[in-house]
Amino acid sequence: MTVSLTARPAWAALQAHYAKARDWHLRQLFTTDPGRGDRFTAEAAGIFLDYSKNRITDETFGLLLQLATECGLKDRIDAMFRGDRINVTENRSVLHTALRAPRGASIVVDGKNVVPEVHEVLDRMGSFADRIRSGAWTGHTGKPVKNVVNIGIGGSDLGPVMAYEALRYYSARGLTFRFVSNVDGTDFVEATRDLDAAETLFIVSSKTFTTLETMTNARTARDWLLASLTDDKAVAKHFVAVSTNAAEVTKFGIDTGNMFGFWDWVGGRYSMDSAIGLSTMIAVGPAGFGEMLAGFHEMDEHFRTAPFEKNLPVILGLLAVWYADFFGSQSVAVLPYDQYLKRFPAYLQQLTMESNGKRVTLGGQEVDYATGPVYWGEPGTNGQHSFYQLIHQGTNLIPCDFIGFTQTLNPVEPHHDLLMANVFAQAEALAFGKTADEVKAEGVAAALVPHKTFPGNRPSNTLLLDRLTPTTLGKLIALYEHSVFTQGAIWDIDSFDQWGVELGKVLAQRIVPELQGATEPALKHDTSTNALIRRYRAARRSG
Ligand code: F6P
Repeated sequence: MTVSLTARPAWAALQAHYAKARDWHLRQLFTTDPGRGDRFTAEAAGIFLDYSKNRITDETFGLLLQLATECGLKDRIDAMFRGDRINVTENRSVLHTALRAPRGASIVVDGKNVVPEVHEVLDRMGSFADRIRSGAWTGHTGKPVKNVVNIGIGGSDLGPVMAYEALRYYSARGLTFRFVSNVDGTDFVEATRDLDAAETLFIVSSKTFTTLETMTNARTARDWLLASLTDDKAVAKHFVAVSTNAAEVTKFGIDTGNMFGFWDWVGGRYSMDSAIGLSTMIAVGPAGFGEMLAGFHEMDEHFRTAPFEKNLPVILGLLAVWYADFFGSQSVAVLPYDQYLKRFPAYLQQLTMESNGKRVTLGGQEVDYATGPVYWGEPGTNGQHSFYQLIHQGTNLIPCDFIGFTQTLNPVEPHHDLLMANVFAQAEALAFGKTADEVKAEGVAAALVPHKTFPGNRPSNTLLLDRLTPTTLGKLIALYEHSVFTQGAIWDIDSFDQWGVELGKVLAQRIVPELQGATEPALKHDTSTNALIRRYRAARRSG
């Protein structure tokens, strides 16, 4: 029987340690230990992590590492890479790492090496992407494709849209990319209103090919296409599918010859480097996509082999546990100082919260400790003029991850130095603040001193990379994937299922006919839901 997390010796030691740590101030930690700015750093795969501005000492770090060891993190990492069925509630392997394994590697699942299949799909994607990019693939009327529209939701949307935005600098500028996800018809209408159907390719991306939003949008897309091309045969030239479900793809009317597959051991939120990344590959080309996979793989190898004290995902994951479980922090802000990473926080929301938003252990026991925090963020410097006020002077403790690059892709002087000066300044201000005495010394009126005092002691990590490329993007995503894994392993939860999204889906299916029927059916919900449905029906009929 697994020992409960709170019964582990390292947990008890951390609790006792926290009783002292909660009163430390980062100002004092840096004064008594100036070497920490160099010591609490780690570098791997071209990513430099400064974690010195955290409310930790060597003792804290040692205890967190001990907790990781006691929780069997190493065995769990090995089990994932080996293909054990660590997603216990769905009885599945968790092998997104196989998606970026080099050609020639061997990862055996159910007696079969899956790496050749992965590369077979990548090769098919590559030749398809090349045909779109070169104009060799033509639509129903003989025109080359100019617009690529990815239809998907959750992991079948957030990864592709984030990667497209992140790698826009490298993308084929003659092609337009759009992403339709919401079942709100506005999303489809606005994404397609200026497109010529004869030049448009739809990629229907859905692991299950049964998701309500995606299938509704895909049917609307087919109607939209046929409204102008007026021949069912056009579908074969303008629709491709990415899915694990060949039967449903065929039923929809897409030839499985135009389907790119993946496998049940790839979770939706871990799938952007599978065929779900087809739009990314069309944008940056097969070589660029291959560089991204190599970046993922380099971080995978680092996570798998580096000792915990130098292991970037392990360090980030343990710090997240330290704040969530001991300081009671309920969120983490991710603040990329790069405009191309504008969708990165949204992508991370699914990755982190669908993975670790769990309330029972692998064995089904309700946890008596906090699990996944809320991840959120916006690119800097925009966030500074919006929500940073609360991080600096509010009552919540919000650990921050700053992400910056030493080289810009768009060297328009003096922008990059200004951007990066803000990264360093924000982390400094959060950590050290400004005391009341410092404020008074500036001659500030006494009544304003409390308002202008910055308490500081707000922790942050700074991630510094050299340049945003497909490779560095792959490394950055894998870093967070494995940090999420580390947190889930400590919390003893299943980071790879998502049962929490099911109930709402089922209830929505029940309500659809209640909204659409000509006469009102007998409503058997609670009085609030019944009244809302009645009000909607009445307003819809009169409007
Ligand atoms: O509802 C949640 C979810 O299952 C996600 O985990 C997944 O990424 C998304 O829906 C989309 O699923 P699919 O790719 O099967 O359409």
